Amino acid sequence: MVEKNGYYEVEFTDLTHDAMGVCKVDGFPIFVKDALKGEKALIKLVRMNKNFGFGRLIEIKLESPFRKVPICEHYQTCGGCNAMHMNYQTQLDFKRHRTSETLKRLGKIDTEVNPTIGMNNPYYYRNKAIIPFAKRNGKIVGGLYKTRSHDIVNIKRCHVFPKLYSDMIRFFRQIFTELDVSIYDEATHEGLVRGVMFRSDHKQEKYAVTIVTTGTRFPQRDIIVKRLIERYPGIVNVVQNVNGDKTNVFLGSKHKVLHGKDVLEDRLLGMDYDISHRAFYQINPAQTEALYTKALKYAGLTGEEVVIDAFSGIGTIAMSAAKQAREVIGIEVVKDAVKNATQNAKKNNLKNVRFIHGTVEDVLPTLDVKPDVVIMDPPRKGVEKSVLETLVKNKVKRLVYVSCNVSTLARDLNFLQANGYDVKEVTPIDMFPQTSHIESVTRLDKR
Ligand SMILES: C[S@@+](CC[C@H](N)C(=O)[O-])C[C@H]1O[C@@H](n2cnc3c(N)ncnc32)[C@H](O)[C@@H]1O
Repeated sequence: MVEKNGYYEVEFTDLTHDAMGVCKVDGFPIFVKDALKGEKALIKLVRMNKNFGFGRLIEIKLESPFRKVPICEHYQTCGGCNAMHMNYQTQLDFKRHRTSETLKRLGKIDTEVNPTIGMNNPYYYRNKAIIPFAKRNGKIVGGLYKTRSHDIVNIKRCHVFPKLYSDMIRFFRQIFTELDVSIYDEATHEGLVRGVMFRSDHKQEKYAVTIVTTGTRFPQRDIIVKRLIERYPGIVNVVQNVNGDKTNVFLGSKHKVLHGKDVLEDRLLGMDYDISHRAFYQINPAQTEALYTKALKYAGLTGEEVVIDAFSGIGTIAMSAAKQAREVIGIEVVKDAVKNATQNAKKNNLKNVRFIHGTVEDVLPTLDVKPDVVIMDPPRKGVEKSVLETLVKNKVKRLVYVSCNVSTLARDLNFLQANGYDVKEVTPIDMFPQTSHIESVTRLDKR
């Protein structure tokens, strides 16, 4: 019989979608963080319900040859990374396998998945960091949350952010303490500063900083901005974003620019982009280039096509496609991102691209053109069924689906496959090294 707090000798036979080891005791499945397939270990069962439990690794008895010592001192507590205990090739293989399995199991799609496209240096890649701050035992802490919690790990150094971010986090902890800045308390909904967001360009030379507060009055902001830009000359803008809601969403809808303009400039695949603090921008620039290159290859453009970039953000896919297409139309729900996209098309002198503000659900059925190719890059929840139905109804010849969630991808591909499309090729791209998150691109052709 399996019991909570019991100790068991187990062998791991599989990994979950979030890279936990899977083992069974008397047929009862137990998931264990940091365990690898093929390993034998002593575990303690720490949490259980009727159908499964969660265990903690006590001692590894037989170690996998694919195990790697994590380079991060916070790896055991921080919720930011969960695959750092696998060597990099194993991370890439895991993502390919998961994509293939999920497409088969949830999508009933039996297709060979290409090897995951990885990075040369899978560290220090993440151009955006959201750092919540809190007061703990009278001390200001700032960092990343522990897994499935709002308990902050007061990180010293992070190995997926640009190196300068660790220093900037320290800077904010010190200056908030020195100036006795009021820090937001989630439990009581009192206090001013919720956290700070950093963004950088591809070369990690220019930085944008957003300080998120619950109200507009921020007495220490001038001195903080002065000291910040003195210390980090690469900072091109500082924005105060106001979010007074009781919510887990980090950014609010109001903001005030404190330094520079609300624009970070970056260059991707030979195009220049302006990015405002609220606009979505892919977090791994090197891999974004690999992703877009693959998406465009799948689109197979000849210069004659009308292309829709659904969920277009600041227009990066649309603009990358523009030189190879007759016309490209982007659809995006965030107004600031549409503004950025329109400005970006002008900046790059592209005359055959336009952007429409609204949801893909509302805009797609009202378009006055018939697209030859639709490239979709939806958020994690995937594409609404009504959108898929419109694509089917319009008999779009080719679809390219960029996905950051393989489960919703499988659901949507299943619908498309049942309604006249063939899944031709799938390639995972490692946008999020050291984590179990999977990005992929799929090509579908009308049967
Ligand atoms: C994963 S991002 C992709 C953005 C862009 N393709 C890129 O590579 O940077 C998804 C985008 O879809 C937008 N979005 C979310 N739901 C939407 C909807 N229903 N209609 C239109 N855009 C939506 C988000 O604001 C975000 O910009």
